[in-house]
Amino acid sequence: MKVLAINSSARTGDVSKTEIVLDYLLQGMREAGADVTVVELRKKKIRCCIGCFTCWTKTPGVCIHKDDMTEEILPKYLASDLVILATPLFHYTVNAMMKTFIERTLPIALPFFEKRDGVTTHPYRHQAPPVAVLSVAGFPEESVFDALKFYVNFLFREQRLAAEIYRTSSEMFTRSSAGKKISDIRDALIQGGRELVSSMKICPETMDRIKKPMTDFEEMAPLGNLMWQTCINEGITMGEAQKKRLIPRPDSIETFLMLMRFSFKGNKAGNTRFTIQFNFSGQVAGECYFTIENGSIKTGSGQSDSPDLIIESPFEVWMDILTRKADGQKMFMEKKYTTQGDISILMRMGAFFGN
Ligand SMILES: Cc1cc2nc3c(=O)[nH]c(=O)nc-3n(C[C@H](O)[C@H](O)[C@H](O)COP(=O)(O)O)c2cc1C
Repeated sequence: MKVLAINSSARTGDVSKTEIVLDYLLQGMREAGADVTVVELRKKKIRCCIGCFTCWTKTPGVCIHKDDMTEEILPKYLASDLVILATPLFHYTVNAMMKTFIERTLPIALPFFEKRDGVTTHPYRHQAPPVAVLSVAGFPEESVFDALKFYVNFLFREQRLAAEIYRTSSEMFTRSSAGKKISDIRDALIQGGRELVSSMKICPETMDRIKKPMTDFEEMAPLGNLMWQTCINEGITMGEAQKKRLIPRPDSIETFLMLMRFSFKGNKAGNTRFTIQFNFSGQVAGECYFTIENGSIKTGSGQSDSPDLIIESPFEVWMDILTRKADGQKMFMEKKYTTQGDISILMRMGAFFGN
């Protein structure tokens, strides 16, 4: 099977969630024996359709533009057995690069009007290959893809729409993430690729695993908002923040505890059990604690019954240490914060939390 994957993401590598998700799908397709070619639209010169309809009359089937679409991509498109259109969701639909590509497939159609299933259409000049659509979106609800679903089902009604792969909460997706949720989605994408090659479809069970929610608004929004606010305060882009592995700076006890829960790596904690009590002073004053036990973390406000370590600190000092703006040991020597109990916990704690 000859597969052509068209990737319209402007990003690449580890920051492109379109590329990451597409790569897993293509891995499965290659494993199942497909001959896969990937075209990255950001590297190509594709001019906008100017609506001259030259391709419908003067040079039937051939566009007036002599660019990568005419010379390379359209011939590959027509020669493939399956096309994967992979796009980030921008403003609830395909991004501009993908839309430009789609408009430039006009030479495939004939100018004549026909009525099919009660709607006006243009018949195809060539047999067009089946298409699978893949899109990734930042928001957590699947309804974010409703407009795109409607669009592609209408657009490809004459062509076979072999699969629609929609992945929400895309920004939680990383190649290196070992989280259980992500590793199952990755395995399901690889499986989906194999199924596409063997049966030209993805079975409902595999699709449910691919689309499985990773988070919801309640979990995503506070952390996302904290990250955006940190970027604004630091005057850097989200991409720069990711490169620097910037830690979002909590601005309340709730966001501090949320960050601890979010960054906790249960698989690193083993049988470790301890409770740390924080008594914060200063602008954000209050008490809270977290307990690590059986590879999971529990957080609470107020006083814990039996803390192993108590930290008394101005909130801002602890947030400076947390976000690596200050050195924890130096701050301790300078008595910027004080501890009671098993201080060795502090030395070991870093290993249980990721960025
Ligand atoms: C201009 C723009 C518009 C976007 N519109 C939406 C949107 O409507 N809904 C959504 O959930 N995410 C939206 N996003 C987020 C992207 O879909 C998301 O970050 C995706 O992972 C980008 O794919 P990439 O990593 O391959 O660039 C938008 C991002 C940008 C830059």
